[in-house]
Amino acid sequence: MDLSRFPRRRYTEGATPLEPLPRFSAQLAASCPGGRGPEVWAKRDDMLGLFPGGNKTRKLEFLVAEALAQGADTLVTCGAPQSNHCRITLAAAAREGLQCRFVIEERVLGSYSAQGSGNHFMFRLMGVEAITVVPAGTPMAAAMQAVADELAALGRKAYVIPGGGSNALGGLGYVACAQELQQQCFERGLRFDRVVVGSGSSGTHGGLLAGFLGNHIDIPITGIGVSRDPADQEPLVWKEAQAVCDLLGLGLAVPREAVVSIGGYWQPKYSVPNRRMVEAVQMLARSEGLLLDPVYTGKIMAGLIGLAREGVIAPHERVLFLHTGGLPSLHAFEGVVLGDADVAAP
Ligand SMILES: Cc1ncc(COP(=O)(O)O)c(C=O)c1O
Repeated sequence: MDLSRFPRRRYTEGATPLEPLPRFSAQLAASCPGGRGPEVWAKRDDMLGLFPGGNKTRKLEFLVAEALAQGADTLVTCGAPQSNHCRITLAAAAREGLQCRFVIEERVLGSYSAQGSGNHFMFRLMGVEAITVVPAGTPMAAAMQAVADELAALGRKAYVIPGGGSNALGGLGYVACAQELQQQCFERGLRFDRVVVGSGSSGTHGGLLAGFLGNHIDIPITGIGVSRDPADQEPLVWKEAQAVCDLLGLGLAVPREAVVSIGGYWQPKYSVPNRRMVEAVQMLARSEGLLLDPVYTGKIMAGLIGLAREGVIAPHERVLFLHTGGLPSLHAFEGVVLGDADVAAP
């Protein structure tokens, strides 16, 4: 499948590494029934460009190319208070000589602090032009359009990027990832039985699924919901995957059963820590020196661990964990991941 017809900026040199996690796999196996567990590998999308990069880097390569083609001078986007997407969009803006504005949705009241650490600090450091903070439930598209209108009144031109960069164009980033992975597996003679991926605004999960379908990659994808249970999450992912397939002109209908997400691990609430996340962050840090974040990848890996312990991921499987980044928000939760603070069970 030829993606070269879509304008793209490049923010990463080459492919992200594929790494086995043998010490973690052994520890996990020891806690699985019969002492046997899957062989876990990671695809290191936390090492993408616009460092410390993550899944948004791939989506922004296509979105920013369109912004530049349209002559925009400002990127406008939105996210939660510790938004990796906002931070990486800001980095792309700096790289391209554009201005950048955010609308931040305070999903947990009082969770945004202009003087805060982690991504908040990086927003300041990289020179965000303006941040509008709105309460949970605010229609974000309208709030971003209001910012774009304000800029237009000043004679400027905004390019509005939806939350998480998740639309059909952004999803192409994960079609490119699917192709990269296919090539890496081919070169190394590797075969995975399953890919485990985070499922939030859905561009990663949906884009990857579209890429798998379009490239005839027959590996099941298990999405771990980071903010919704399957009844709400799966239709979103399906819609995203179909939109990406349509943009590519594949002429295929995404089978509903190809969209699988797992709920529960994000509870009690999006971005609010739980014990399984703390266990996952500590296990990976101490067994492999691999850092996960508390909001996304910690909960996603907790899902992988839980599914292996339940036997849903079988002991004979070779599983690929897509590490989507998020590292800076770790610093906003230091006490929590060290185990010094009370967090929700389980
Ligand atoms: C580190 C990280 N992982 C996973 C996700 C979820 O990806 P998506 O929004 O594409 O579903 C996000 C989204 O913000 C993220 O920042």
